[in-house]
Amino acid sequence: MAAEKIQIFDTTLRDGEQVPGCKLNRDEKLIIAEQLERLGVDVIEAGFPVSSPGDFEAVQAIAAQTREATVCGLSRAVENDIRVAAEALKPARYPRIHTGIGTSESHILHKLCSTQDKVLERAVAAVKLAKSFVEDVEFYAEDAGRTANDYLARVCEAAIKAGATVLNIPDTTGYCLPDEYGAKIKYLRENVRGIDKVCLSTHCHNDLGLATANSIAGVLNGARQIECTINGVGERAGNTALEEVVMILRQHPYLQLDTNITSQRLADTSALVSAMMGMPVQPNKAIVGSNAFSHSSGIHQDGVIKNRETYEIIDPRTVGVADSSIVLTARSGRAALAYRLQKLGYEFDRPALNKAYACFMQMADRQKEVVDNDLHLLVEQENLVA
Ligand code: KIV
Ligand code: ZN
Repeated sequence: MAAEKIQIFDTTLRDGEQVPGCKLNRDEKLIIAEQLERLGVDVIEAGFPVSSPGDFEAVQAIAAQTREATVCGLSRAVENDIRVAAEALKPARYPRIHTGIGTSESHILHKLCSTQDKVLERAVAAVKLAKSFVEDVEFYAEDAGRTANDYLARVCEAAIKAGATVLNIPDTTGYCLPDEYGAKIKYLRENVRGIDKVCLSTHCHNDLGLATANSIAGVLNGARQIECTINGVGERAGNTALEEVVMILRQHPYLQLDTNITSQRLADTSALVSAMMGMPVQPNKAIVGSNAFSHSSGIHQDGVIKNRETYEIIDPRTVGVADSSIVLTARSGRAALAYRLQKLGYEFDRPALNKAYACFMQMADRQKEVVDNDLHLLVEQENLVA
């Protein structure tokens, strides 16, 4: 049986780009959008057109350039936002307007200074207006993670009636636990009339480090779209990382859920976004961090050299990394040293390897890592004969 497809909605260019220091100009956005399409994302959220003339132009240019993916523009539940988004999306082959409003008690009381009934009315009016411009309308219930389920269900039902095709359930503040977020999606599936006609979407933030887990919990409970960003960039602690959810689904085929992503392009896409945003990727970042496929302790190195499956659950080539690496440090053992020396063309018998290892250890205790040049020097200076 073929796996069911989960739509990947990439918001690197909107939620990701909101981060201080990560701002991109129109040309940079176009290059990233092109790469996202090559990667195979289903939806590119290109920006928030009303936010600035530059963002309007960028969304318009991405809409004109993109041929396969849906291009989406964000708007608040505000008439002018929606009109401007519709205008920017005019050149798109597959346009989507993403509109919505805060639904939690905190947002209604403190941000919108409104009431539940008035917020519901604004949600309906926004979806109807967006629908007058495009067929594909996504509604977001901001801070749905902290919104009471019964009210959230009322808003979702009204948005469907007004014409929404996708319902986004954001955990805007990254507050939910995976069980709680999964239960919320399940509750909506069971209590909202018309829910089967629309696509439920996850949009999780990482304030407690749970964005990926919550997105997966959402999908396991019936969501069919994941909103995410490359490298997990986004407001505060970031958004769900695209590379993580894609590889979680791919590494667990029994779930029968997959995406259209060409995983071999993940490493390059990560590097491109990191360079253009000036936002380094933490070395221990899952899938795309520089240490994600490097082994440094003796026990792990010995295992990987014998059979990589002992400590690697992903073949690095499947995410576009040429090979895993054996990093030499003071925690490395003889097997790792012999392996690296062999790669450099040195073959030692056991007594020679023991001597080389003793010299290597002295060097490794003095520095953080022993690199190829150090090994050449070591062999020459210590007169180690292969
Ligand atoms: O986190 C959030 O709630 C958002 C919405 C604007 C979709 O980014
Ligand atoms: Zn967000």
